[in-house]
Amino acid sequence: MSPLLAQLSPSVTNLIRLDHTHVLSAFHQYEIGSSDRLKRGLADSVCLAIELHTQLEEEVFYPALRVVADTEMLRKSTPEHDEMRGLIARLRAMTVSDPVYDDTFFELMRHVMHHVADEETLLLPAAERLIPEQLAELGARFNKRRLELAAPRTPELAASFARSLSAGTLLAAGGAVLAGAHLLTRHRLGERGLGLGRGRSARPI
Ligand SMILES: [Fe+2]
Ligand SMILES: [Fe+2]
Repeated sequence: MSPLLAQLSPSVTNLIRLDHTHVLSAFHQYEIGSSDRLKRGLADSVCLAIELHTQLEEEVFYPALRVVADTEMLRKSTPEHDEMRGLIARLRAMTVSDPVYDDTFFELMRHVMHHVADEETLLLPAAERLIPEQLAELGARFNKRRLELAAPRTPELAASFARSLSAGTLLAAGGAVLAGAHLLTRHRLGERGLGLGRGRSARPI
């Protein structure tokens, strides 16, 4: 990667932190007493943001870190994502009036908060320590792939976003889904010269 591109691209660790901030903020907007329409819109947007974020981590971030690190946290990250996907599937199969809808949403929130805490205290600092020269390049790939994954789900995003906005709520999760879109031009720069460094041995974080 050229020094110029490295300067222009956001680091993958900061993009992940930004996604976390948006999703946690959206979680905290959910109130048991809100209308069913608002709760559904908020839950749908949070679920979509989590789905995209977890897939991006699994495709772009975790593989790069696995090359240089071997840790329990890294090994359990994808199974934890699978638990979130299971809760998301349960939420989507329910009506908002289901007696366990709120509890299921809050269970998802607890899983995400726990997982995010581990990532922010262990995995992200490890990446910044072990592969600092790759972070911008990975950030460019992360954002480029986000746009690819989000594009076919735009109607879904727009519908949930509209339900939330109709109640006068600014939904941060919608921003999380599309975060980095303004960097499209930079992604296109980033399409040239991508490729992970190799040749290191995995080691404990
Ligand atoms: Fe994760
Ligand atoms: Fe994450």
